[in-house]
Amino acid sequence: MCGIIGYTGTENDVQEVLMTGLSGLEYRGYDSAGLAIANGSLAVHKREGEVSALENALPEMTLDGLAGIGHTRWSTHGPPSDENAHPHTDCESRVAVVHNGIIENYQSLREDLTADGHEFNSDTDTEAIPHLIGSALEAGVAPEQAFRQAVDRLEGSYAVAAVFQGEETIYVARNESPLVLGVGDDGHYLASDVPAFLEYTDRVIYLEDGQFARVSPSGIIVTDEQGAVVDTAIDTVDWDPEDAGKSGYDHYMLKEIHEQPTALRKCLRERVSELEHEITVEELATLECSGPVQFVACGTSYHAALYGARLLRENGISAQCFLASEYDAQSIPVSDETLVVGVTQSGETADTMGALRMANQAGATTLALTNVVGSSAARECDHVMYIRAGPEIGVAATKTFVSQQAALTLLSSVLSGAESPTLIKQLRGLPEKLQHVLDESTAQEVSAEFVDADAYFFIGRGYNAPVALEGALKMKEITYKHAEGFAAGELKHGPLALVTEQTPVFALVTGDTAAKTIGNIKEVEARGAPVIAVTDRPAEVGQYASHVLEVPTAGPYLTPILANVQLQLVSYWVAAQLDRSIDKPRNLAKSVTVD
Ligand code: AGP
Repeated sequence: MCGIIGYTGTENDVQEVLMTGLSGLEYRGYDSAGLAIANGSLAVHKREGEVSALENALPEMTLDGLAGIGHTRWSTHGPPSDENAHPHTDCESRVAVVHNGIIENYQSLREDLTADGHEFNSDTDTEAIPHLIGSALEAGVAPEQAFRQAVDRLEGSYAVAAVFQGEETIYVARNESPLVLGVGDDGHYLASDVPAFLEYTDRVIYLEDGQFARVSPSGIIVTDEQGAVVDTAIDTVDWDPEDAGKSGYDHYMLKEIHEQPTALRKCLRERVSELEHEITVEELATLECSGPVQFVACGTSYHAALYGARLLRENGISAQCFLASEYDAQSIPVSDETLVVGVTQSGETADTMGALRMANQAGATTLALTNVVGSSAARECDHVMYIRAGPEIGVAATKTFVSQQAALTLLSSVLSGAESPTLIKQLRGLPEKLQHVLDESTAQEVSAEFVDADAYFFIGRGYNAPVALEGALKMKEITYKHAEGFAAGELKHGPLALVTEQTPVFALVTGDTAAKTIGNIKEVEARGAPVIAVTDRPAEVGQYASHVLEVPTAGPYLTPILANVQLQLVSYWVAAQLDRSIDKPRNLAKSVTVD
């Protein structure tokens, strides 16, 4: 939710670095984009719309300066507009500020500042920050202290960065919003997420909540709330900058769908050994789980969590799954024996972080299942297991869902001690089977027939039920068309009333629930709806469906993972034919850092 970038260096390439970073961050919000570059004065440019709109609005001559900040916005306070775009400045344009998060006390700050004569130009909560800094400068306070004093008055969540007229240093602070610093050879960086500066450096410092940093061409100094210097570790990120590009695909989403075999191999590497008939996850070596397991997650990650909870239950562990935004550790029994698992690709989702913090407070053991090293979930939970999918830029989660499902299969095996040689073999063979689905899929042709449908329904039972929900989420997210997913048995309890000749039904027919799902297909067919069966038994199921999307058999737990890939492709091709903004669907953002 909003992306921030900053750079200060010895070469005069600030504008280029900021624009590259903004393009890499656009998945976090695309309502507006802006930048500020400090020189003798402050050059501030901002525009409603995507980064390309900002690019067109920039002067022909590259802006001079050695320090700059940039921002892509996902609107919270005030609609998308040039005025509400960041950076925001004080009345005298001595300081420019970008911010990701929500300042909860902005209304009272704004009233106080307005009473003191400050004029606001936007509806944003952020604009209070440069005015607070401006007040302190007015009183003769030096820039760094003015920044700290302003941040001290903020309540809420923030990753905030400020540049001052005539200064090469960028001042930053973080509380409950992501912020990572980059250590380069010719300069230093800050961003909401590593891919924004990965092209320039892979050495990073993860700022903690409550910390401040002074980022200058000569170095980075991190301090605590009292101003004492903090010793920080420099980590190396093992993501390839290539991973963050489109590699010739029209969209990140399609590229990421095709990266799934590789993502799976990475997730399973050194964890699943066919030779030793063993599943081991090094990160979980010290995790003890004697009591019930609760999963908390949102959106696609919630669907993965539903799949994971079912796996645990089948392996004899009591497991429940909660939407993180509905989780309340006070009304849900949590004890020090409970393991609460936050499934979150970004590791920053506010709802999931809120639930994990509640669980922590209630004394539960917490585990983050995440893709992002150093994310809030990874740092705040007692344990972390990485899904190792690599950077995912498309707002619609694809490869991270598959990697979450694979990682949850491993987690279930580790917690229950169930290591069947069959499962190990099936896991090892999964990437190849997924590649087969990608190579042979007829989803593009099938979807062409249903572009004009009124609505799309997805049904499945057992492990296929969460996949049906995910299929519908993907469809609505990127096509903007109505789509619903149901546990197949539920159809007859109401949704069947919606089924017509204009509503294709995608039925997931695999595993030992297939026979019952075929019964549901017949109910749908009797109402005239076209049925597209996604199945590993085409000969048997084909006679009941108008179309078949075939998947190889990979066992009862893993075949649904393959079936999901066909649904991803169907959504993608429907969206492509409708010419939708596939990587940046309207109103959405990759990382949802507001409640
Ligand atoms: C799915 O395509 C969406 N991007 C969204 O539902 C997402 O899964 C959800 O916001 C949770 O994000 P997280 O995994 O980063 O916590």
